[in-house]
Amino acid sequence: MNNEEPSSENNNLIENLEQNGLSRRGFLHGMGGLGAMLGMGGLAGSAGAAPKDADGKVIPGFEKGQNDPNAAKGWQSVSDRKVKVGIAGYGLCQFGAAFFYQNHPNVEVVAATDLDPGRCAALAQAVGAKKTYPSCEEMIKDKNIEAIYIATDAPSHARLAIMALEHGKHVCSAVPAVFGFQAEDEAEKLFNAVKKSGMKYMMNETSAFHADLYAKRMQFQAGALGKIIYSEGEYWHDFGPNGLPGYNPKNGKIELDGWRKALPPMWYPTHAAAYYVSITGGRFTEVSALGTPGLYPEYNGGDNQHKNPFGTEIALFKTSEGGISRIGGSWDMKDAHGEQGRVHGQKPHNNAIKGDRPPLPPGVNSGDHGGSHGHLTNNFIESILLDKTPIVHVGDALNMTLGGVIAHKSALKGGEWMKIPQYEL
Ligand SMILES: NC(=O)c1ccc[n+]([C@@H]2O[C@H](COP(=O)([O-])OP(=O)(O)OC[C@H]3O[C@@H](n4cnc5c(N)ncnc54)[C@H](O)[C@@H]3O)[C@@H](O)[C@H]2O)c1
Repeated sequence: MNNEEPSSENNNLIENLEQNGLSRRGFLHGMGGLGAMLGMGGLAGSAGAAPKDADGKVIPGFEKGQNDPNAAKGWQSVSDRKVKVGIAGYGLCQFGAAFFYQNHPNVEVVAATDLDPGRCAALAQAVGAKKTYPSCEEMIKDKNIEAIYIATDAPSHARLAIMALEHGKHVCSAVPAVFGFQAEDEAEKLFNAVKKSGMKYMMNETSAFHADLYAKRMQFQAGALGKIIYSEGEYWHDFGPNGLPGYNPKNGKIELDGWRKALPPMWYPTHAAAYYVSITGGRFTEVSALGTPGLYPEYNGGDNQHKNPFGTEIALFKTSEGGISRIGGSWDMKDAHGEQGRVHGQKPHNNAIKGDRPPLPPGVNSGDHGGSHGHLTNNFIESILLDKTPIVHVGDALNMTLGGVIAHKSALKGGEWMKIPQYEL
């Protein structure tokens, strides 16, 4: 798929958007910006050229690592077992089918769900699931399912993850782990559900398997970098004056009035925050953040669904190593785009330490968002098969996500220093 050839699902979406006053041409052009980090429909599993925006630039998230031809080199099977997985969510990004569960030799996709019957049927077809459920809540009750992959809208992740854990399922959740005004309460409940159930919980932080981040993780774990003195991470993505569609629970549509409208950048901090947390396993402990008034009408001076005035937020964190980390999120800044970051330690990078990402099973490609999709799925499935801690476990997931949520609170108070609640298994 490319920007000129929307899927039938996206055609429906475009019709919805047209009903909401956005022109088809405007939407397709918007897709350049909108697709930027969003992993647009079905692209993740495709072997085609990276999609480009209206200016001919490759959309962020699709730049490199897609379908690495050497991904399976050196792979060895760890088990003959097939984990029975149920997949939820086939919205704007069609993420339910974009993470290669259907290709993994140790997975049987037994069921699929989306609240919208059309999207549910399309997801079931894309992942080869024989069973469908009208909701994730119903699917979670299926005793045959061992693990749930949650690719629904961000505000629903924690509630569905907690429910699945309480039903004895392993859970892999799209980012963020917790969301919005209820994030701190959800964090407590999610942490307790993971602890009590003993099941695996992983957040699909795509930056964790960016090649550069993973290489630095290997350096850090080998002690090559010493302590990280300073790190920085960014998620720059100009949504444009029309904003970005997302699921709207009020009417079931994916539309501009959905959960992404006037989203505080620091409620979605994970791709940037991984450039400290997923490299070191260290923690953000305190934060001071500032925001700038959003450029576009949807912010409306803070009179919006999220009561958020900011289109750009920058957070300065103290880290558990005694270092400093600067994390930025922006939906309106010009000449800035990408999910990226840097770390600087006490010691230099050691070229003798290999930092390659692990091999993937045949058929599981690395995929979009810097070649991360297949790696995340393989890591989650291996964590179940081998009883290992997943790469982005609940402690990391909550520190990154809550770090952002508290940063937004700080920005609303003009940069007041605030402590970040800590959760460790
Ligand atoms: N780089 C990344 O990691 C990255 C990139 C893009 C999106 N995402 C995340 O992926 C997720 C999906 O994104 P999207 O843009 O496709 O979302 P979306 O808002 O467009 O769609 C969400 C879908 O979930 C379905 N849904 C909601 N509640 C459900 C329930 N209880 N049971 C079954 N289905 C339900 C909706 O019907 C809808 O089709 C989001 O959480 C987003 O944050 C991550």
